[in-house]
Amino acid sequence: MNRGRRRFLWRGLGATAALAAGTGLYAWRIEPHWVEFVERSLPIANLPLALAGRTLVQLSDLHVGPRVDDDYVLGVFDRVRALAPDIVVFTGDFTEPYPGFLTQARNVYRRAPHGRLASVGIFGNHDYGPGWRHPEFAAALQPVLADCGIRVLRNEVVDVGGLDIVGLDDWWGKQFRPAEALAYRDATRPGLVLSHNPDTVDMAGWFGYEGWILCGHTHGGQCKPPFLPPPLLPVVNRRYTCGEFEVAGKRRIYISRGVGHTLQVRFNVRPEVTVFTLQRALSGGGGSSNDPA
Ligand SMILES: [Fe+2]
Repeated sequence: MNRGRRRFLWRGLGATAALAAGTGLYAWRIEPHWVEFVERSLPIANLPLALAGRTLVQLSDLHVGPRVDDDYVLGVFDRVRALAPDIVVFTGDFTEPYPGFLTQARNVYRRAPHGRLASVGIFGNHDYGPGWRHPEFAAALQPVLADCGIRVLRNEVVDVGGLDIVGLDDWWGKQFRPAEALAYRDATRPGLVLSHNPDTVDMAGWFGYEGWILCGHTHGGQCKPPFLPPPLLPVVNRRYTCGEFEVAGKRRIYISRGVGHTLQVRFNVRPEVTVFTLQRALSGGGGSSNDPA
């Protein structure tokens, strides 16, 4: 091999190594904290006129714990608070349980933003401790969150200004019991469902519910090659990556990419805070939210 060709190869190798190192650094240090505020409309059938135009912020998968920087989460909270939302919903995985997680959760969530009308949430699998098999973790977390002004709905419905917010408990935590919340609910009332794991929408027990379901859980896969689906996705139905999907029974789901992470790596799947503007839907079940609010 002549000298010119050897130099060319070495330069190529050097450039490739620098690109790989730069991409790794970006995916580790930059993107996991580069949160995107996504604005969307949320059309709901029979929404009370007084709620039309109100804002609902969805915060999902914060994973407060040893792997997510508190200052990052608190910075996100400050930005949400500055929006003065009317409703704040947390769609699960508040914490990453470890010994002492309650103290950290209290310190972070006491500075959580509140909705003018309501601040409610649901648990995700990580809130149920290692292997999602420890209901005592969630039972201990619930009063801490309540002290911080966040009401956790466990297969329950709360009336917020005439809108039923239905909070379903977590599937992997073996607490998903939609009948408790939906079987006796007046289906003609405006409603919005929170369910951490999007696979739950394919299960039985929705009792004719039509409308929106806000989910989290997937983190959008955290890493996604351009033009290809994310390789790692903790769902059975691999269609459910992130964003909006129409599902059977006049239901639509919105899957947030989440704020936090399990491992501190994201690539092409920025963390997300979703800012919805409530609208009165013209059709039953609510319409698409394709248009930005
Ligand atoms: Fe999560």
